[in-house]
Amino acid sequence: MNSSITIFGGTGDLTYRKLMPALYNLFARGLLNGNDLICAIGRKDYKQEDYHKLITKWIEEFARLEVKEEVLQAFLTHVHYLKMDLSKKEEYSILQTFYQDRHYDNTIVYYAVAPSFFEVITDGLSQVTNLSKPKIVLEKPFGESLEQAFYLNEKLEAQFGKDAIYRIDHYLGKEMIRNILTIRQTNYLIANMWSKEHIQCVHISAAERVGVGSRGSYYEQAGALKDMVQNHLLQILTIVALDNPDAELAQQQKEVLEHLRVIDASNVKDSVVLGQYEGYRLEEEVDPTSNVETYAALKVHIDHKRWKGVPFYICTGKRCSHPGIEVVVTFKRMKKEVAPNVLIIKIQPTEGVDLQLNVRHPQEELGLKQVWMEYCQNCEDIFRLNTPEAYERMLWACLNNDASWFSKWDQIALSWKYVDGIKEAYKQEQLPVKSYPVDSSGPSTSELTNDQEDHQWRIA
Ligand code: BG6
Repeated sequence: MNSSITIFGGTGDLTYRKLMPALYNLFARGLLNGNDLICAIGRKDYKQEDYHKLITKWIEEFARLEVKEEVLQAFLTHVHYLKMDLSKKEEYSILQTFYQDRHYDNTIVYYAVAPSFFEVITDGLSQVTNLSKPKIVLEKPFGESLEQAFYLNEKLEAQFGKDAIYRIDHYLGKEMIRNILTIRQTNYLIANMWSKEHIQCVHISAAERVGVGSRGSYYEQAGALKDMVQNHLLQILTIVALDNPDAELAQQQKEVLEHLRVIDASNVKDSVVLGQYEGYRLEEEVDPTSNVETYAALKVHIDHKRWKGVPFYICTGKRCSHPGIEVVVTFKRMKKEVAPNVLIIKIQPTEGVDLQLNVRHPQEELGLKQVWMEYCQNCEDIFRLNTPEAYERMLWACLNNDASWFSKWDQIALSWKYVDGIKEAYKQEQLPVKSYPVDSSGPSTSELTNDQEDHQWRIA
């Protein structure tokens, strides 16, 4: 079967950093067919060789697998750069002509662009009749508001069919996020302790060292809540908290979102802290008076019988000092004076699992000792090199019509509603977007907890 992957946003950050390296990896693993085509669309006037040179640099920097010259050259013969302005309807005839004598049974169109372009691309594609039954991959955020997301969703589903829409959340392609389910499904010790009776609190954090870089204009519309919380962090939350890890994933995730306690004007002050790193306003394409948040910390409650009363602390920030993504589960103490057991699922950059236990201290008079049992998966070369990177895994799934780990529309609608409500309440209560120094742990979040047990903040 021959496949074609058409990428709108062929000269964007996502294509350079993630998609091309992922496609190179698939090619190097022998998973792309000799006739497969990657068509990258952009407005710039690049010759094929120039575009190839450009992506080579990114592939060399970001591909998971070693870049071998002969493999790279062979890969590049599959990559075609097509100059067209995606915002102009009349230019879609360029795409139509391009696919005139090219026939593929498996067709993917990737919207690697800001959501403000989703509609114009969809309209434009209605004039392109040479792409057979395309699968449409949509990057987050899906739409710019809940209302617009509804509108777009109807339009896309009507034009391409419900099953043709693949809403990507690349976090669902990360090895250790998938491992959360396995850990829950296969460890008696954990499966039977996964509830309010045994768990004190859960922290889910994703801290980044980088700032917004060249994505200022996109970020000004999104902010941390829409860029990270509405999708990636809520996806992790749903996997950690879903009721039955053996049942259908999408349905289980949806149930968690349905049980999120609403954050509104009555509780936003104790539930949300937003921050902005110093210097953000000086970034390229950022309003010098911007109040957009680059940091968000939330205390979330899930009003479900499994979790009643257990706080889930979610936190994400750019330009933070200790980059990494992890889930920290703090169990209840056996006795007041005994430290709790803690389970840490490390997602990035270290991939692994750590568990803290109490043992008797060998010097008797010192009482107890806390020890960590640690497993680092990507410390082992064989696993690091053989574990597909998130985009690689998601692209491969899409090529094979496997939509199981792509986000479903109802999940997106529920998380939009939740996050829109938070934004609204924060504004209504005139809460500050707190400034924090670069390379720090973010602003103070003491508003969120005065409970000493919830002490395991990883970022703040
Ligand atoms: C993207 C966000 O979805 O995820 C970026 O738009 C963020 O702002 C990125 O930097 C983080 O992804 P990863 O895989 O590097 O953790």
